[in-house]
Amino acid sequence: MRIPLSAPDVQEEEIAAVAEVLRTPHLSLGPKLAEFEQNIARYIGAENAIGVSSGTAGLHLCVRALGIGAGDEVIVPSFTFVAVANVLRYEHAVPVFVDIEPKTLNLDASRVEAAITPRTKAILVVHTFGCPADLAEILEIARRHHLYVVEDACEAIGAEYHRRKVGVYGDAGVFAFYPNKQITTGEGGAVVTNDPQLTARVKALRNQGRSDTDDWFQHSELGYNYRISEMNCALGVGQLNRIEAILLRREEIAREYDEKLRNCKNLRLPPLSVVRRRISWFVYVVRLAPHFSQMQRDWILEEMNNRGIGCGRYFAPIHLQPAYRNVVAPRDGLKVTEFAAARCLALPFFNRLKDEEMEEVCGNLEDLIQQADKFAPSGKAVSAR
Ligand SMILES: Cc1ncc(COP(=O)(O)O)c(C=O)c1O
Repeated sequence: MRIPLSAPDVQEEEIAAVAEVLRTPHLSLGPKLAEFEQNIARYIGAENAIGVSSGTAGLHLCVRALGIGAGDEVIVPSFTFVAVANVLRYEHAVPVFVDIEPKTLNLDASRVEAAITPRTKAILVVHTFGCPADLAEILEIARRHHLYVVEDACEAIGAEYHRRKVGVYGDAGVFAFYPNKQITTGEGGAVVTNDPQLTARVKALRNQGRSDTDDWFQHSELGYNYRISEMNCALGVGQLNRIEAILLRREEIAREYDEKLRNCKNLRLPPLSVVRRRISWFVYVVRLAPHFSQMQRDWILEEMNNRGIGCGRYFAPIHLQPAYRNVVAPRDGLKVTEFAAARCLALPFFNRLKDEEMEEVCGNLEDLIQQADKFAPSGKAVSAR
């Protein structure tokens, strides 16, 4: 791709810090893990942070540590990454998909209560594309029904809700550091929580079920290897040191896209600000006007990629994925999810994106939208390809 969809931003000092670790005897469970965890906890404003091998691992550990198991229902959006529901299925729990609201594409809090049954154990709320969900309403519903709240902040490190960082509002919050994220460790994630018991359980489960008092060959419970290496953590420490500059740069890019595309009548742009929230820009996702079909969107996307401009379908809803067909039938109609998912298009978005590249992205996009508007391109109907 001439202009990729995303690209990591790793600086020389960070490369040196990773190389430095390789000269020490500590490649796992060493001082960089402790430093990374302390820095994440301080940055987020949480009592504890636990470094893990991925965001998925972090979510899975939360589900397991909270005792969510076979037959338990958990409320989740479908308009998100598949890991959100997968981690429930690992534990034979049931994802109950609830529709999103059209402005922020986050879980529609007004629909949550209707989805609660006596089997509901938790709400797994996702801060989609880095925009905080309606936490006040969701926490209130959870309080009334005695439900856990896990915040999936994998796309939202640094985002704020009422001036506090997301991740600290629920029983636990989870971050992810894959290379397309705001900050990266290559692969990696972190769980944050203020609950000391949950911290101890997540730590034990991350490390093959060893509790703090176990020796290396004693395992108090069934666990996993979800550890993160010292090299990953060294990179994370460096990246976290400059997170504020990264978030500001990403916000600047979002504003520039907004300026360039504002007059395109066939596009709906993401809101640049939402009241009482700070957005941590993960991706820049535009939506085609309602009269466009999914086939037209897919054609535009394919043509953008053919022209060397990386575009993606954020998101293909989970309930339409082949891995989910005949597994869980949504009880809610998920109309907003399906409508938005058919028209979404993620544009190239990374710290070092240049102005002339943005010009090229927007010029090509407007050209293709105009072409697609004149005809309905043929092609097979795809739901979650
Ligand atoms: C909302 C959400 N949850 C979970 C994950 C999983 O994170 P990871 O890829 O680190 O396992 C992602 C990753 O993109 C995500 O976007």
